[in-house]
Amino acid sequence: MKRDSFSSRMGVLAAAAGSAIGLGNIWRFTYLMGDNGGAAFFLIYLASVILIGLPIMIAEFTIGRNTQKNPIGAFKSLVPKSAWPLTGWLGIIAAFSVLSFYGVVGGWTLYYLVRSVSQSFLQFSPDQYATIFTNYIENPLIPILTQLIFMGLTFAIVVRGIQSGIEKYSKLLMPLLFLIVILIDVVALTMPGAGEGLAFIFKPDWSKVDMKVIVMAVGQAFFSLSLGMGTMLTYASYIGKQQDLKKTALQVTVADTLVAVLAGVAIFPAVFSFNIDPTSGPGLVFITLPAVFGKMPFGQIVGPAFFLLLAIAALTSAISILEVLVAYFGEELKWGRKKATIISTVLLTLIGMIASLSNGIWNNDAFFGMNFMDFLGAFSSNYCLPIGGFFIAIFVGWRMKPEWSNQELLIGAKNARGNKLVLWLLRTLVPAAIIVVFLSGIGVIG
Ligand code: PFF
Repeated sequence: MKRDSFSSRMGVLAAAAGSAIGLGNIWRFTYLMGDNGGAAFFLIYLASVILIGLPIMIAEFTIGRNTQKNPIGAFKSLVPKSAWPLTGWLGIIAAFSVLSFYGVVGGWTLYYLVRSVSQSFLQFSPDQYATIFTNYIENPLIPILTQLIFMGLTFAIVVRGIQSGIEKYSKLLMPLLFLIVILIDVVALTMPGAGEGLAFIFKPDWSKVDMKVIVMAVGQAFFSLSLGMGTMLTYASYIGKQQDLKKTALQVTVADTLVAVLAGVAIFPAVFSFNIDPTSGPGLVFITLPAVFGKMPFGQIVGPAFFLLLAIAALTSAISILEVLVAYFGEELKWGRKKATIISTVLLTLIGMIASLSNGIWNNDAFFGMNFMDFLGAFSSNYCLPIGGFFIAIFVGWRMKPEWSNQELLIGAKNARGNKLVLWLLRTLVPAAIIVVFLSGIGVIG
């Protein structure tokens, strides 16, 4: 497969921010924040993003641009005949497990987008929205149909390659995403009772914080910044040598966090202003919000706009995950882009179908007490991503020759400021924090 590359700085930013900004920011972040103490969760999340997430993103960028290869090829070329390519393998497994369930939820966003356009959709009671959601996701056919459409869109972009596919569509969709979220914020902030929602986001309640909340915040930082599975590494393999990697990573991180906050501002003031319980788990955006849109000014416009926002966010992230697999198949197995994209999409869609059915007719708790869909989410974000991130940090911190990493970080940058700090974090704090969080996540400590 011939190597493509991003054509502009804006293109890199849009694509990498597009990967980071996804369902994780709007759907996952808001319900985690709702369930785990609002601002207190947010502050711990912020610390994880700055101290753990940002250095790992820089590490992935460093490996990716240095080798210009997919996650497995990258480690193979830097340290041949070692076990390091296993880190890339872990990324491939994570990509399969994340995108297969992500494609299902992506389908949900399309379904809600279409339904929210009809006048009658905004007139149900909160209980009815719960029934609509459950009936839909338990149905054996419709969610699979919406998943197929979503995966089809993802395929259609990735098959066109980096410049005319991923870059072009990210540059088109990301500004639209920002515009929509800001418009919804404006409406949300003018509602009576908005202050209480803002207090929920910005005034910490530390009483809810325990080790479990910290584990979730760190896991969310990995998921939200698309780290630990080689997505950022793969995108960086298409970045030109004239770009400052640290600066790009910082900009992507800021954009990602900003959208999480903007999504919180779009959602919580409205939730509070109608006295709805903010702790409603994964159903928050699909059950609670439609009820809110029904009562809010311009709900008829804000509702569909919100689901369009969600669908765009999901799509620009899904393409980045699919690209990890396409780059791997294309480079390591020497398949053409078309073949690699078709085969990856088909495999992902098949696994996703099983995930979708596990919400309904195949629902059982056979996977460590979870259904298959929840298992895929938990397995990837609680295990694959942190373990992948750990080894990426150790690799750049300890194994990669400092001349190489330093050199790579220097290319395109004005000076070496910050390089030492990043490498120090990657050597010490980042791996130590991941170990503690991981052990407490699996119940060994804490
Ligand atoms: N960052 C995406 C989100 O917040 O929804 C999800 C994601 C994309 C996770 C790519 C991991 C990844 F490699």
